[in-house]
Amino acid sequence: MPSEPTASAASSAAFDILCEPSELSTRNTDDVAKRQDGLIDWIKGMLMHSFVLGNQTESYVTTMKYIETLIKEHRIKGNSSRLKTLVPTVDMFHTELHLVEAFNMYNAKYSVTSRKHVPPTFHEIRHILNLSQLLAINVHLKMVSFDGDQTLYSDGGNFEEKSGLSYQIIELIRAGINVVVITAANYEHNGSMYELRLQGLLRRFAKARLSPAEIARFHVMGGECHYLLRAQLTPGDTIAHLIAVAHEVWQSGEGGKNCPMSWPISARESFLDVAEASFRASQSELKIRARILRKKTSVGMIPGGEAMVKVFPGGHGKDKIKSEILDEVALRAIEDIAKIKSDLIFPYCVFNGGRDCWVDVGTKGVAAKCLQSYFHVTPGECIHIGDQFLAIGNDISTRAVCATVWIETPKETYKILDHVLRFSLGKDKMERAAAAAAADDLDRVTQPANGGVPSLSLDVPEVPAVRPKVMNVYTGEMMSAPATPK
Ligand code: IMP
Ligand code: MG
Repeated sequence: MPSEPTASAASSAAFDILCEPSELSTRNTDDVAKRQDGLIDWIKGMLMHSFVLGNQTESYVTTMKYIETLIKEHRIKGNSSRLKTLVPTVDMFHTELHLVEAFNMYNAKYSVTSRKHVPPTFHEIRHILNLSQLLAINVHLKMVSFDGDQTLYSDGGNFEEKSGLSYQIIELIRAGINVVVITAANYEHNGSMYELRLQGLLRRFAKARLSPAEIARFHVMGGECHYLLRAQLTPGDTIAHLIAVAHEVWQSGEGGKNCPMSWPISARESFLDVAEASFRASQSELKIRARILRKKTSVGMIPGGEAMVKVFPGGHGKDKIKSEILDEVALRAIEDIAKIKSDLIFPYCVFNGGRDCWVDVGTKGVAAKCLQSYFHVTPGECIHIGDQFLAIGNDISTRAVCATVWIETPKETYKILDHVLRFSLGKDKMERAAAAAAADDLDRVTQPANGGVPSLSLDVPEVPAVRPKVMNVYTGEMMSAPATPK
């Protein structure tokens, strides 16, 4: 549960509204050329004027008002807008942004304009943009999609049963909102594997006794945009299950033309050949003790374990591949794929997943678009909440098709959902979810134990506790947990 920032945190230069600096992932802050966001960097520069010119609240508000106007104009003029000239990388806005209101709310709480030494930071502007988006979407909300890793649970982790997020998600579903987890994790249509990762949430659905109509509003999209599954709850069961939805069901109709089913397998294969060759070249040139995985719609590089030590005696990465190396591998793959880009008939994404690196056929943007058509909702009625909005991230593709919220940790997601419930459904819903989460804190619910198994594997609870079977989250393979905890 996120706690209120403390006074000492507020005086720290790296202070962040929603979490302690140490909790921020380095993924978005490392000094890599590609770790930038054109719009946020530009707003930061604009607000710097107000800071150096006396830090008057009015000056910030005038700047925010001006940016609001530029965004309105950009929504009409697109590429010929003034904003596009000022920020060439700017994408589409599917709603207006209530920047003045958001800034005033933020400033009232965090005293930005009372500071003498620290101007508004990148993360603060990200938070203000998020808030302005939620204020704008308001009661029009019809679909919320979530990234999985690092948004609902930590990278490679699982959705914990006591996570307060589950109560918030239940409120959304009860209010008639479609909720989808759009994840790159790819276990094809194998529902039980996604169930392992989401078991905490799926158990809460059963405990909350969601009706058949309510439970049917929860979906999981695996492999970016390839495999859709729908939740189902049988009365008496202690966990909801995930049932495959046939491609023809959600990819037909008006919006189905550019959905994944229409991409020939041969085109996918030759694309993945290029991606795999790039990963293999990086591996040998950079001496990475990695394992390279090839799936139907993706190629991945993951830590290779002991077996790779012999292959690269002077190398690195058997347990953990350095973030700089993952960036380098991703950027090289982008470069190699660029050579064949003009022949490609589908979108793709290349991303540093925090502990691994992937090239995937298709994007979350494709998923959001196809789902909008399936659920009959418009881009301005949807938000996608995710952690990867940099050039080498896999949530960024959703910006073109729906409103987005950029978070860095599951704790931030919790705070964002508080705002979503308050602005879109009413304060009572927010309070009900918070009260349920607080009550749960007092109630000793058994956590799925992770006793000593590698952090990237999940327990299968029904297997005897001595040597539990665990699932490799990259491949979906089942294996015995190590006998001795690391
Ligand atoms: P997301 O953040 O929910 O989109 O999940 C991304 C993570 O899913 C990656 O960092 C991987 O650890 C995991 N994953 C498992 N299978 C795949 C795959 O086929 N493509 C990309 N990521 C995968
Ligand atoms: Mg993620």
